Amino acid sequence: MNLEPLKAIIGPNVIEEDQDIISGATSDWTRRYQGHSTALALPTSTSEVAEILKWCSSNRISVVPQGGNTGMVGGGVPMHGELILSLKKMTKIEFAEGTPSQLIADAGATLSTVQREATKNGRMYGVDFAARESATIGGTIATNAGGHHVIRYGDTRKQLISVEAVTAEGIIVGDVRGLAKDNTGYHLPSFLCGSEGTLAVITRARLRLWPQPEEKVVVLIGLESVEEALDIARLFTSTNQDTQACEIFFRNGLALICKRFDIEPLWGGKHSTYLLFEFAGPKGVIERLRTSKHGQVLRNTESVAIAEDGTSRSRLWRYRSLHTEAISDLGIPHKLDVTIPHHQLPYFIDTVGSIVRECSSDNETYLFGHAGDGNIHVNVIGPDENDLTTDKAVLEFVSSLGGSISAEHGIGRAKAAYLHLRRTPEEVKLFKDLKNVFDPIGILNPGVIFSE
Ligand code: FAD
Ligand code: MLT
Ligand code: ZN
Repeated sequence: MNLEPLKAIIGPNVIEEDQDIISGATSDWTRRYQGHSTALALPTSTSEVAEILKWCSSNRISVVPQGGNTGMVGGGVPMHGELILSLKKMTKIEFAEGTPSQLIADAGATLSTVQREATKNGRMYGVDFAARESATIGGTIATNAGGHHVIRYGDTRKQLISVEAVTAEGIIVGDVRGLAKDNTGYHLPSFLCGSEGTLAVITRARLRLWPQPEEKVVVLIGLESVEEALDIARLFTSTNQDTQACEIFFRNGLALICKRFDIEPLWGGKHSTYLLFEFAGPKGVIERLRTSKHGQVLRNTESVAIAEDGTSRSRLWRYRSLHTEAISDLGIPHKLDVTIPHHQLPYFIDTVGSIVRECSSDNETYLFGHAGDGNIHVNVIGPDENDLTTDKAVLEFVSSLGGSISAEHGIGRAKAAYLHLRRTPEEVKLFKDLKNVFDPIGILNPGVIFSE
């Protein structure tokens, strides 16, 4: 890849060719995908992004957009030596004039800086998950990230008021003006949110903010059956206005975390199933909980831990949030992030482990996830990175139950071969036609969403 002509257009400082720096951007967080590249572009403005893409399109140079590189499906990995286009240097955040409940962020701003800016202004940003310090706004839009608060605030799509992006040919589209009502033809944010870097490079976004809750309480409970846990989850998520997170995990994941991080096991690790709730709202969260039917449920449950101050809340959250890291320490996991219809969840949770074992008796399954959304993260340790037997068996099982093969992480490379399990041939054709309009030469993220 001779980038000298591009350097002549945008200046030499935007293109990084030092392999020590590039190597940090050539594999994904899970380490399952190991790519390579000779160059990393680090633009500082939308117009630079446009210049780069215009030149790449004219010269048929494939490009992999990248944010914080915390993706779980290999979507930001240059598997064939593509140019990596990192938005990391575009980090500006500003408040929209006259609209304190909206914020404008550059694509490279991290989720945590957006959260902090919102908080400083008495608001909150509705998306949150453990990779907040590295995941970028551009990446969260490109993957339509979910996280812990979807049951209350919705996924990233629901936070997106307007978006600015650059198409593969270097055309700047969209804006961040963010009128509350704007039915002028097709809705660009809807096309781009969840497009995983295959249609355009997102450069800026205008995001919705929510009133900041005055109080937060975290409650963790230990239970003996999945059915009981899901009944409680359903009751709390459908009838308690303060519920903003409802997460689930199980005995083997908890044991792994306690061992790996040297944390005290909860209730001696005696329960099979754990639910973590976060309640937030106006003052009086704990009183409302105590005096409601939800409080009665908690009183009838043997093992309940309640955390009201920040330190204790974080302590309880660790049992859920550390799953990703603890599992990755065992080896390279096959990460299968799926949604199951609520009525099938107990059957799925009880059965998926045996399906995984049928593929190989050495396979270990760890389940955890966002119980309120029916989103279970199936993590399998054991199969070789390129052995897809287990992925296929689990995803076909999910499909047979009417579930989705990707709840929140996206299709990326990891699930491109299984798109047909959720989308009809007509839908896949429509998707490809759409990609053709945004990216006629096919330079943006080849092999992502659609198999090569
Ligand atoms: P990257 O990993 O850099 O890229 C992801 C995809 O987006 C790639 O296809 C890339 O090409 C594309 N992309 C990135 N930036 C742009 C851009 N500006 N324009 C166009 N395309 C772009 N995800 C959840 O949904 N919910 C969770 O609860 C959650 N928890 C996590 C916890 C941990 C510990 C980790 C490591 C990850 C977690 N993730 C979660 C996954 C990940 O953080 C999200 O997918 C996140 O949205 C990725 O953001 P990123 O900036 O790191 O994107
Ligand atoms: C989570 O919910 O913790 C994330 O989606 C990350 C993961 O699946 O490991
Ligand atoms: Zn998740």
